[in-house]
Order: sequence, then structure tokens, then C-alpha cells
Amino acid sequence: MTFAPPAAARVGDLLTSVATPSLTIDLDAFDANLAAMSAFAARHGVALRPHAKAHKSSEIAKRQIDAGAVGVCCQKLSEAYPFAAAGIASIHVSNEFVGADKLAMAVELASHVRLSVCVDALPQVRALGETAARAGVTIDVLPEVDAGQHRCGVTSEDALVELVDGIASQSALRFAGIQAYHGGIQHVAGWAARKHEANRAADIAAGYVRALETRGVRCGIVTGGGTGTVEFDAASGVFTELQPGSYLFMDGDYGGLNWDGELRWRHSLFVLSTIMSATRPGMAVCDVGLKGLAVDSGLPRSVHWVDADDAPALSYVSANDEHGMLQALRDAEGDFAGRVGKRLLLPPGHCDPTVNLYDEFVCHRNGRVADLWPIDARGFSR
Ligand SMILES: Cc1ncc(COP(=O)(O)O)c(C=O)c1O
Repeated sequence: MTFAPPAAARVGDLLTSVATPSLTIDLDAFDANLAAMSAFAARHGVALRPHAKAHKSSEIAKRQIDAGAVGVCCQKLSEAYPFAAAGIASIHVSNEFVGADKLAMAVELASHVRLSVCVDALPQVRALGETAARAGVTIDVLPEVDAGQHRCGVTSEDALVELVDGIASQSALRFAGIQAYHGGIQHVAGWAARKHEANRAADIAAGYVRALETRGVRCGIVTGGGTGTVEFDAASGVFTELQPGSYLFMDGDYGGLNWDGELRWRHSLFVLSTIMSATRPGMAVCDVGLKGLAVDSGLPRSVHWVDADDAPALSYVSANDEHGMLQALRDAEGDFAGRVGKRLLLPPGHCDPTVNLYDEFVCHRNGRVADLWPIDARGFSR
């Protein structure tokens, strides 16, 4: 017999009766974001390989594939397992990895899916090639180039050529192209400034592609880009594949940027919370804090009632482990005792780490729970 708390929600429940805290998806907004990115990639002739680290859910990955994505990215090898198990046929691990445990996962995954991985050092290439050969699998390899973020990735053409030669010398590896991702520019607030930075990253990537071409090596895939730069990456003529993740949900950080191009995004991801106490004038306390909201990119920047029509005159001002402190906006009615028990929707500051705090998405439409999607790669960070 299992002894566990009751389910937070069932399909058909009113959103107002869903247990809190819960992580919710507004399906109208989600569907609009999903369709917009798919149509955008198709219109611009670039492949879309969304980053699954944003949602960690095979249910969502299947919807992305159905809408035209060529596969998904994962950031970690263990994260790829639920997607492989769910039948996602093409997975790119957009990250470097080392060690026997990781190599074992790579070859196991490669026996189930078409797997591509990133490298930026020759010993990784050798270890991967030898392990893959022993296991009888083939792995696509995309050396990562440093497109300006100064995180991972080779920093010279010679280093890239050395990797490409190393890959060619391993019978179980296939050189598939390069990865050029610059995470540091995704959240540049101004449209023109973001465009400038994205074009600079694309120029760096183009330089590496040319360097390979002058040596007679065709660079099939150039993959990279995130939600903040997709429009510039697609227009650059350099990237053949885009890796955005957050576009499905948006978050406080992305919501604060300027979006002057053809794409508009809607917030679809909200933490559902309940006002559980309001004993002091001008203050209320809700039931979600640090354990249900990632605050590395800031606190929720807005607050929305689920079961009242007026705009909440409150802002979320600080997070304790399990408490969210809400303060009356200036000039607002200061007594919130009558609001105890009321539900709030809070848009997280940063979607990815917030998703990783929950086991399921409670998906709703027209005020009712329409679906429950497991976050099956939650916590898979090896
Ligand atoms: C390699 C890589 N590609 C793509 C993304 C997706 O970025 P975003 O969620 O900003 O769209 C990330 C996010 O950190 C990343 O690390």
C-alpha cells in the first residue's frame, strides 16, 4: 500500500480547486507560443531543435516534434533518458561531458536514438570514440566553438581543426557540424543591442565555418541560438538549426526584454499559490517561497488573482523557504485578511529552474484542468 498525499489536481477540476503550490500551464498561451516558433522556423528555412531543459517533459517534447521540430536538445545525458524512452528519435546533448559514467550513458542512449554531442577537447573525442566503438554504436559529434560567452568551446581555428581531425580518426564518430551558443546575450534588454551582440556571435561562428571550408571540410549543422536571439540567428544565414527553450513559457526575465521583431510571446507558466495568512496591515503571505520558485532572475514581477476580478494590489517582495511575502502596493487598500484562501498566479523570474522544482504541469484552459503532464526529466542533472 502506498501512503502519499492526494493528487494536486485531476482533469476537469476547476483551477480554483487545484492544490497549491502547483506549477500551471495556460494552454492557450502555450499553444500560441508553440505554433509561433514552429511557423517562424519553417518560414525562415531553419531547423528547430528546442531545448528540452526548459520543460523536462516528454509530453511537451512530443508536441514540439508534432509541430515540426527535428528533435530536442538536452543539457545533460541523464536528462535525455525520458525523452529517448518516450520515442523522441533525435537528441542533441548541447554540452560537454567527461568520465566513465557519462560515456556509458552516451553509448546507451546512442543505441536507442540518433545522438549528437558536443566536445571541446581531444581527450573527450578519443574517450568517446573508443567507448562508442566498443559498444558498436555511432555518435554524431559537434565541436563547440566559443561564440563570445567564454564558457565552453574552442577558442581557435587550429583547436577546431584538431578536433575535427580527431573525430575523423574515430570510426564510431561522425563529424556533424558545430555548436555556437552564446547564453550571455539572450537577455540583453534592448532589441538593437541584442541584435548587435547576436550578429557578433554569428560572425564568430561564420569564421569557424569558413576555416573548415578552406580545409575542404563541410560544416553540415551550425546549431545554437536561444529565445532571445532566434530572429537574428535565423536571419544571419549562418545557423542551420535553432535551440530555443524558454519561448514556450516565458518568464519574468524574458518578459522584461524588448521584442521589436515579428515574434511575440505570451506568459504560459505560472505558479499557483494561496494566500494563507494576512495578520498585519499592508501584508499578506502566500504558500510558495524558495522551494517552489526560482529567484535567481528575480522575484515574480506581477501577481494575478485566479478567483477575483480586481487587479491584485500586492507585489511579491520576498521569498522564505515555504512563504512568499506580499506587500500592498502604495495607496492600496491595506487589509488583506478577507483575501486569505484566495489563489494567485505568479510568473516565475526564471522558468528552467522553477520547472525543476515540480513533478508535473497542471495544464488548464477556460478555468479548468485540461491535462496533467509529468516533468519526467525533473532532477536528472547528471
Ligand atoms: C546550449 C543552449 N542552447 C539553448 C538554450 C536555450 O535558451 P533559452 O531557454 O534562453 O531559449 C540554452 C539555455 O541556457 C543553452 O544552454
